[in-house]
Parts: sequence; structure tokens; C-alpha cells
Amino acid sequence: MAKRVTVAIDGPAAAGKSTVAKKVAAILNYTYVDTGAMYRAFTWAVLQRGLDPKDEKASCSIIPDVTMDLLEDGRVFCNDTDVTRAIREPLVSSNVSYIASYKDIRLALVELQRKLAESKSVVMDGRDIGTYVLPDADVKIFQIASVETRAKRRYDENVLKGIPTSMDDVIEDVKRRDYIDSHRAFAPLKPAADSIELDTSDLNIEQVVDAILNIIHEKTGVEIPCH
Ligand code: DC
Repeated sequence: MAKRVTVAIDGPAAAGKSTVAKKVAAILNYTYVDTGAMYRAFTWAVLQRGLDPKDEKASCSIIPDVTMDLLEDGRVFCNDTDVTRAIREPLVSSNVSYIASYKDIRLALVELQRKLAESKSVVMDGRDIGTYVLPDADVKIFQIASVETRAKRRYDENVLKGIPTSMDDVIEDVKRRDYIDSHRAFAPLKPAADSIELDTSDLNIEQVVDAILNIIHEKTGVEIPCH
């Protein structure tokens, strides 16, 4: 049986983590876990109930009522509703950092994330995977890119998905989320001491995927299939 390998990819908003993590997981036939989607789905649930995401107590009060399913095909369900598209809408994006800063919500979602990584090979992306969720991950990547590069990527992604946004709004959103994500008290965004920093500002997706596959091979000895 192939050995179990865990890969943690952390980094700031819109650094292209999910695109490459998904590809790396597909090439290696590992499960991809998008933890950002879980914080987004929780935010969707808070908004759907008409609660204020800035209100910690109200947001945390629904923890027992929120169920979440991440399907292998990438779809995300929250309380049995398909929220795959809804969780990318600007209203969710602009509120998710508040939700992600609440300790009780993080603890509930981290428990789910650890369960998803139990006994199988995963590529998990987020902000605190290498530092907190999977501190013993075999490979830890901290993926960064300039604010301008990241905003352009997020903008292009939104255009493709038909989500109306302006470039200025995306830049502001990226900066604001960087600040909140790295300044929160519990499990803030920061590189794990044993992570490898990968600056993707001047790399295309294929180059980043290959760089990560090389790191995985070097660290674990796993053979990389032709792709
Ligand atoms: O990666 P993303 O943009 O979809 O993440 C959405 C938000 O969730 C982002 O503001 C940071 C937060 N997040 C987090 O705090 N911890 C994680 N493991 C993943 C995401």
C-alpha cells in the first residue's frame, strides 16, 4: 500500500493556493481539502440566517446547527444546500475574515479538517494547516505572491465565474484580509518554522505545480507520475 502523505499549503489570500493544490492532488491521486471553503460556507450560513458576521456571539451560536460536506468533485454543501458558487460571492468574501477569527468556529472546523485528513493522503490548503491543523504534515509550503499579482488573479477568477467586481475593490479586499488573517489572536496566518517559502509572483500555474511536486518528491521520496 502507498504510504500516507500529508501536504500543507498555506499562504495569504489569492496566492493561487487552491488552483495548484487541486492540481497537485489530482496528479498524485490524493484528496484535496479546501479549508477556506469551509470558513466561507460557515460565513454563508451566518448571512443566510440574517446574522451579523461581526457579531461573534451570534455567529458562534449556530455552530451546532451547521453541517458541511466537501465532495471529491469540488462541490461544497452547507446544511444540504449546494453553496459552491455562493461562497465565492463578494458578500461572503468581505465577511469571511471575521468568521475565521472566532476561536470556537475555528476549533469546530479544525476538528472536521483533521477528520478529513485521517488515514488518507491529502493536500490541504489554508492559513494554519502547517502551524496548527496538521503540525506533523510531511510537506509544508508557504505560498506567497505580491498583492498586485494576487489581486489580478482573484479578479480574473471572478470574471471567469461571472462575479462582478472592480480591480480596486479586489485589491482592498486582499489587503484587508491579509491584515485580519495575520493579526487574529488564534492560529494567525504565519509560516510554520519548517515550511518552505514559494514566491509565485513570476511563475505560472504549471511552474508552481512542478515546484511543489519536486518538493514533495524530495521530502517524501514519493514518485511523481507523468502529467
Ligand atoms: O483561501 P480563502 O480565500 O478561500 O479563505 C477564506 C478565508 O478563510 C480567509 O479570509 C482566511 C480564512 N481561512 C483561515 O483563516 N484559515 C484557513 N485554514 C483557511 C482560510
